[in-house]
Amino acid sequence: MVFLKSLLRTPCRNLFFRASFLKASGCIGKNTTRNMSVHLFNEADHAELYQKYRPTYGPELAEKIVTFVREKLKTTPLDQAVDIGCGSGQSTVILAPHFQRVTGIDVSESQVAIAAAQNKLSNVQYRVGGAEHIPLPDSSVDLVTCGTSAHWFDFPKFHKELDRVLRPLGCLAIYCYSINYLSYKDVTQELNRIFDEFYFGPIHDYWHEKRWHVDDKYQRIPMPYEGYVRDDSMTIEMDYTLPGYIGYLSTWSSYREYCKRNPDDKGAILQNLQQRLYEATKTTKPPEEVIIHASYPVVLLMARKPHEEQTSS
Ligand SMILES: C[S@@+](CC[C@H](N)C(=O)[O-])C[C@H]1O[C@@H](n2cnc3c(N)ncnc32)[C@H](O)[C@@H]1O
Repeated sequence: MVFLKSLLRTPCRNLFFRASFLKASGCIGKNTTRNMSVHLFNEADHAELYQKYRPTYGPELAEKIVTFVREKLKTTPLDQAVDIGCGSGQSTVILAPHFQRVTGIDVSESQVAIAAAQNKLSNVQYRVGGAEHIPLPDSSVDLVTCGTSAHWFDFPKFHKELDRVLRPLGCLAIYCYSINYLSYKDVTQELNRIFDEFYFGPIHDYWHEKRWHVDDKYQRIPMPYEGYVRDDSMTIEMDYTLPGYIGYLSTWSSYREYCKRNPDDKGAILQNLQQRLYEATKTTKPPEEVIIHASYPVVLLMARKPHEEQTSS
């Protein structure tokens, strides 16, 4: 481990990697004294990187959620969906074809600003707000979704707010993608070995304690209503150039925290990782032309607020 840590901390001298990496990294010139907080996605440059590099969800996810909602809510079209912890809107837009109104809500003003600036859908709006204080009236919502965000919430307060805004028989869908599996030609095993050394190595201690729910694949995340449904069958499939993949890693909150606490690193840790992945591909192409594949397992949990008669009985 000591060897691994020193290897990963060795500054990369290869300008080829340095130039492509520094463009993507949030590591330079940042405030390194701020305390760690659960609101880890506030800075404007983080929101931009997030919008650029984070995985996007396919239509299958929204279709599964809407099928679940429609099992009991027969109104056509469905009225309002709310996506809490919407980030830059990746998880919000997939709901637009199914609802008259979709509201993305996030505590981060920067994320909401990016989402709103990119928005081209007339039935989608974005608002600043928290899972613990949802800025919507009582019994006004058919569906609340939380895409890779619920693990950051204060669960008791969120569940109370959720119950307030949901109509009877309205639904909650929380889902997240977890750590990726990489592939590239015949060096898949080696890429994943290098990735595991990075993931379980230098940045691992910088994840916020609440993030363990993601590694746990939401198996113990509290759900507010009984009889919820779990679906583990989906994945997100992404192709990345090597710098694009490193750009994705630069959006991790643990990496951001690592940068704050290790200002001298100046991005070396990710430059080094990119170089190791590049060498493992054994290609002569430049990193910008090397396309690796990442597969992310998705877990989806869905629950339904009981009908009023059931609630009161
Ligand atoms: C990992 S991002 C997920 C963004 C997007 N839903 C996606 O799937 O790509 C988590 C988001 O949750 C937001 N968040 C964290 N705690 C929150 C809270 N208590 N209420 C609302 N949003 C919150 C963060 O600001 C961040 O934008």
